[in-house]
Amino acid sequence: MEGKVIFISGSTDGIGKQAALELAKMGAHVIVHGRNEEKTLAVVEFIKTESKSEDIDYVLADMSSFEQIRAMSDVLHERYERIDVLVNNAGAQIHKFQYSEDGYELNFAVNHLAYFLTTSLLLDMVSKSDYKRIVVVSSGMHFRLEEIDWDVFKGKKEYDLYNYYAHSKLANIMFSYKLSRLLQNKEITVNCLHPGLINTNLNPQRAPHIVARALPVESGIISTMRLVTDPALDGVTGKYFTSDGTETESSPISYNIEDQEKLWTITETCAGMNVLKFIESESL
Ligand SMILES: NC(=O)c1ccc[n+]([C@@H]2O[C@H](COP(=O)([O-])OP(=O)(O)OC[C@H]3O[C@@H](n4cnc5c(N)ncnc54)[C@H](OP(=O)(O)O)[C@@H]3O)[C@@H](O)[C@H]2O)c1
Repeated sequence: MEGKVIFISGSTDGIGKQAALELAKMGAHVIVHGRNEEKTLAVVEFIKTESKSEDIDYVLADMSSFEQIRAMSDVLHERYERIDVLVNNAGAQIHKFQYSEDGYELNFAVNHLAYFLTTSLLLDMVSKSDYKRIVVVSSGMHFRLEEIDWDVFKGKKEYDLYNYYAHSKLANIMFSYKLSRLLQNKEITVNCLHPGLINTNLNPQRAPHIVARALPVESGIISTMRLVTDPALDGVTGKYFTSDGTETESSPISYNIEDQEKLWTITETCAGMNVLKFIESESL
């Protein structure tokens, strides 16, 4: 990973922070992403000390804000020619129904719309790399859904955290599959993963019997690290990997192409970005 430029969203805690540390130890130029400058700076210092590498940068953005994501993309474009690996990892479980500043339900905004907008805005930088990998951190929680309730994405369904969160994580997978098809001719690979049930800050209100089953954060990076680093995955795209890093099937509904297209259209409208036009343009 020596010299590879790797951006990891949500790398101030949990799985993202651990992956950032391991990649820094492997010689990567890691761009830590946070939303709170003080916390982010402390994590950058921690990673520098633990990895014995000074090659760590950081950017800031609250992923619930399109404006902040766009500003972060501007900063990255000013500082870097290319991004070799883009890891969409920042995620949250929102305990009370809330809207983002752009007017979208917050699980949908942070877990899905932010992945979409970040990826779309940084695609030109990934396309300038020889490595060209996009990694999407989803969740096995998507398996609890037998069908898509489109009212959940619209924030119109009675609030149930796990239903809303599971929909946002299903959206991650459907987004990955659709994007992998769009980018096949550009040689950019897009794969998604479940990190496992991991003991992080994601849900401080987890029931004790769930916490008892959760694994330490070191176990939560196996699939992310494989998707970022494994040479055997060169050219592999549009796949789902489980927590031990093996490729597996995601839920049957995630493969429905019509639903992937429908979600894509809704997402483009919400985020105000026509990605296909961008992909077909000269800039990519
Ligand atoms: N832990 C699990 O069991 C598990 C299982 C399946 C999937 N996942 C997925 O794994 C990913 C990482 O989660 P984790 O378990 O490592 O959780 P975590 O410890 O809570 O870390 C989440 C990271 O995302 C950042 N983040 C959250 N909301 C944000 C926002 N609005 N703007 C900017 N950054 C934001 C957090 O920033 P702060 O440091 O500022 O809070 C933190 O860096 C998520 O996508 C999650 O859905 C986790």
